[in-house]
Amino acid sequence: MTTLTDLHQSTRRRFAAANLETPDLDARLLLEHCTGTTRLDLIREPGRIATPAQAAELEKAVARRLAGEPVHRILGWREFYGLRLALSPDTLEPRPDTEALVDLVLPHARATAARKGTCSILDLGTGTGAIALAMLSALPQARALGVDISEGALATARVNAAANRLADRFETVLSDWFERISGRFDVILSNPPYITDGELAGLARDVTRFDPPRALSGGADGLDAYRTIASGAAPHLDPDGLIGVEIGSRQKEDVAAIFREAGFRPAGEAKDLGGRDRALLFTL
Ligand SMILES: C[S@@+](CC[C@H](N)C(=O)[O-])C[C@H]1O[C@@H](n2cnc3c(N)ncnc32)[C@H](O)[C@@H]1O
Repeated sequence: MTTLTDLHQSTRRRFAAANLETPDLDARLLLEHCTGTTRLDLIREPGRIATPAQAAELEKAVARRLAGEPVHRILGWREFYGLRLALSPDTLEPRPDTEALVDLVLPHARATAARKGTCSILDLGTGTGAIALAMLSALPQARALGVDISEGALATARVNAAANRLADRFETVLSDWFERISGRFDVILSNPPYITDGELAGLARDVTRFDPPRALSGGADGLDAYRTIASGAAPHLDPDGLIGVEIGSRQKEDVAAIFREAGFRPAGEAKDLGGRDRALLFTL
């Protein structure tokens, strides 16, 4: 008979032997997922017996992880800004780095909401809805429109809005950036695809195999989406509004220049948890 602890330790050893970056965490998350237990169960009842069906389920998940599939793709969800977000083949797996953009813009959005009693947010390339839903969860007076070129991504974003009880303030539109957008917003946010074609070829297998290519590819120099967004943003931004974008860690100067040439002024910047440039904010 196998206990939860046995399964956790043997899985951790196999992941460590395969040089996975976080063998302990991956083993625990998959164990919890496949046995329907929590971290607390493992602490309180380390001797709990796993059923053969649970052990078989875990074995399947371990095989997928050892074949290179990211752990959250196997779980089918990832946490972002305290929200549990479902993933689908059409969505990027939201990354903790993107929380830097939310943190950067939130004080400004809060001030807008305090001044106007509301704050309208446009999230371009919403994917799972991560940025828009994080903003809505932090700002009860806000409303958000999530835009994506992928209907599949928008369907997942709507599921996530409902699951997090934010659906009454979240709408979606299928659009190529601003193409089908009308009206002005207090805040425009985007984490657009920004990886260069060259980088994409050399990226970790995990990322390129399981994130949809159109969520990653920013063209030859990685800046295509910033050019389109910067050139189309002014008519959709409130005169006192802000536009914030996530950037690749070496794109700060280039993206700042693109927005400057489109008539915007810098209004803030943020680094990610690793200390790399990650988000820029502009105003008209
Ligand atoms: C890097 S992902 C960001 C997803 C999500 N906002 C996040 O931060 O986790 C970029 C998103 O932009 C969408 N996208 C790519 N090209 C687009 C376009 N031309 N118009 C609208 N959305 C687009 C992709 O489908 C993808 O969901």
